[in-house]
Amino acid sequence: MAQKKSNLMWGGRFAAGQDSLMEEINASIEFDKRLAEQDILASKVHAKMLSKQNIISESDCKSIVKGLDLIASQIKKNEFVFDRALEDIHMNIEAQLKEIIGEPAGRLHTARSRNDQVATDFRLWVRDQIDLSQKLLRGLIETLLAQADSGVDWVMPGFTHLQMAQPVTWGHHMLAYVEMFSRDLSRFSDARDRMNECPLGAAALAGTSFPINRETTSSALNFKAPSANSLDAVSDRDFALEFLSSSSICAMHLSRLAEELVIWSSAQFKLISLSDRFSTGSSMMPQKKNPDAAELIRAKVGRIFGANVALMMVMKGLPLAYSKDMQEDKEQVFDAADNLTVALAAMTGMIKDLKANKENMEAAAHFGFSTATDLADWLVQNLNLPFREAHHITGQIVLIAETKKCDLCDLDLGEMQEVDDRITEDIYSVLSVHQSVASRSSYGGTAPSQVRSQINRWRDILDL
Ligand code: ARG
Repeated sequence: MAQKKSNLMWGGRFAAGQDSLMEEINASIEFDKRLAEQDILASKVHAKMLSKQNIISESDCKSIVKGLDLIASQIKKNEFVFDRALEDIHMNIEAQLKEIIGEPAGRLHTARSRNDQVATDFRLWVRDQIDLSQKLLRGLIETLLAQADSGVDWVMPGFTHLQMAQPVTWGHHMLAYVEMFSRDLSRFSDARDRMNECPLGAAALAGTSFPINRETTSSALNFKAPSANSLDAVSDRDFALEFLSSSSICAMHLSRLAEELVIWSSAQFKLISLSDRFSTGSSMMPQKKNPDAAELIRAKVGRIFGANVALMMVMKGLPLAYSKDMQEDKEQVFDAADNLTVALAAMTGMIKDLKANKENMEAAAHFGFSTATDLADWLVQNLNLPFREAHHITGQIVLIAETKKCDLCDLDLGEMQEVDDRITEDIYSVLSVHQSVASRSSYGGTAPSQVRSQINRWRDILDL
């Protein structure tokens, strides 16, 4: 196998170079170059602190900062050549800094290790990603609220076991997802708050003998505080796991909504139509309009939760402090983050564009004797029957309607009185789907009055 020169950054004690396979398994630059911006930011903050503490000179600090700014612009303009022989983003940038400013570049790594460096960079990256996910979630919630608003009193079938259960309102169904996505929003906030501690200054694992000021670097990077245990600081990846688990739950919610869109838009249901912008055709069957975006969103939870499981397994059983295993954290997080981002954006677009079919929804809401519970409740409320007895009587009336192949509201009063002669004309006041939903006005219920006040509540909370 080909042998290379020893690494310039740490090769002092190495007589021979590496096997090329070693480079292949060891190098992370292909993916951790995504940390460039965070790496440069943290390095600038570190250099300024070193200078303020008189650990490096002011002039060295100035040339380090200037060199780093130049590197940032080279990367932005795609003029930076990433080199796999330099392993990772940290050493690629430091090597380039040496090219640009010479000797002072070697002083940047004073009182720092790649262990606290990578922990800091990655935290900054994940924190930005949480901010982006939350922004997208807010956009999705706003869109769901707009849908809810446009169909506060539109009646649709409500299912349990995917069997017709009771009529509900379109607004109420949209608001169910507002609840889920707002919990996702708060899960991301919790994760962000907990992860917002700065590992920089933990050095390799034990802290440093240099008189650094960790408060300075922590606040310059907008962290709440420096992390309080250097061993933990370099080896903790909880923050990535919390991001992945919050993302997994959010992706699970997206998958449920996506599945409903697939079902509702099918020719058998026809409750909604999806816009052409988020559908595809079939190359063989000209009549088809496929809900591909919804299907792909439905699938994303697989890889996002996969990333969560993968990183959990990487971290399991690792002794303190840093181990190279942890380099395997990034690809999982990047992949999950990219996929959650596109899924949230696509779902928002689909919800914005979709047209709920008011007439079909209302017609479907009648199927399956959807107001049977209302009938049973009437028997309880007006005849003072125990619910179990009312349930039994209603079952017998449903059987008659089923045999006659008609709706409950189409039965004659006489037919119902044959089952129980105490039933009066007033029964018809609860058998229509509109009356049914209007009557469910308990807090959080499906009644349009409740839906309206929940929409207002959410708009207040989210300041929309
Ligand atoms: N690329 C490494 C990572 O992502 C950086 C830390 C390397 N530290 C070390 N002591 N080898 O984990």
